[in-house]
Amino acid sequence: MSETVVEARDVTIRYTSKNNSSVLAVDGLNLSIERGEFVTIVGSSGCGKTSFLYAIDGLLPIHGGEIRVHGGLVNGPGRDRAVVFQEFALLPWRSVLDNIAFGLEIRKVGKAERHAKARELVDLVGLNGFEDRFPHELSGGMRQRVGIARALAIEPDILLMDEPFGALDAQTRESMQEELLQIWQKTGKTVVFVTHDIDEAIYLADRVVVMRARPGRIREILPVDLPRPRTIDVKADPRFVRMRQHLWHLLHDNEPTLAAVQAS
Ligand SMILES: Nc1ncnc2c1ncn2[C@@H]1O[C@H](COP(=O)(O)OP(=O)(O)O)[C@@H](O)[C@H]1O
Ligand SMILES: [Mg+2]
Repeated sequence: MSETVVEARDVTIRYTSKNNSSVLAVDGLNLSIERGEFVTIVGSSGCGKTSFLYAIDGLLPIHGGEIRVHGGLVNGPGRDRAVVFQEFALLPWRSVLDNIAFGLEIRKVGKAERHAKARELVDLVGLNGFEDRFPHELSGGMRQRVGIARALAIEPDILLMDEPFGALDAQTRESMQEELLQIWQKTGKTVVFVTHDIDEAIYLADRVVVMRARPGRIREILPVDLPRPRTIDVKADPRFVRMRQHLWHLLHDNEPTLAAVQAS
């Protein structure tokens, strides 16, 4: 039976600047996510994707509505959630192993235990042999493997990923997408993955949440009925092509013209 793990109801997020002008970053957003689901959130820059993701983590307060995780109201970060950031956010003076173990260290897990856990994850994300390297010695793809392993180390139920492959070249990005699906299938985590790449959004997801900007709202939720496990070849499937076209129009049509903006 399905079980709701994230429940967002009528969520509003606002930024207020010093001169008291305010931006409505997210407005009346409703979304339920089931255990083990892979949900992607796609939308143009500034439509509130990062704000919503950080609000699920509890890093960012909300100004209206509520977010529940496992039934409890979110009021700060917790061990059941972990974020993977776009910019990797690794500690440059720490080795791969100690970066992965960092979240456990701040939770006062002893050295032997945290290194054992970190070694397990090195294996899962394919970084064997690189345990003692430092971030500057790694490629972008490898750095993000460390980012993913570090998030998984605290054994969260929910992985919150903010354009984690945005800084990678196209080829590395595709292989990281395949690997992420394998990791997801092995670990059974619930994943909320933000991207502005339509192909990535469809390829990974059980459902694609399409957002629109100003104010940030959900425009449509698209179920992706492509079989799993998926390989990159699925991108040639006619159903994939149709969904890509549909999303492209959702994101590009109806953009207000300059004249309409000036008239409003
Ligand atoms: N710290 C901030 N201060 C003021 N406005 C912000 C801040 N962070 C984000 N915003 C605004 O909130 C809106 C949503 O931003 P964000 O969640 O970063 O969108 P996305 O991740 O989809 O690009 C944008 O209009 C952005 O300019
Ligand atoms: Mg963002």
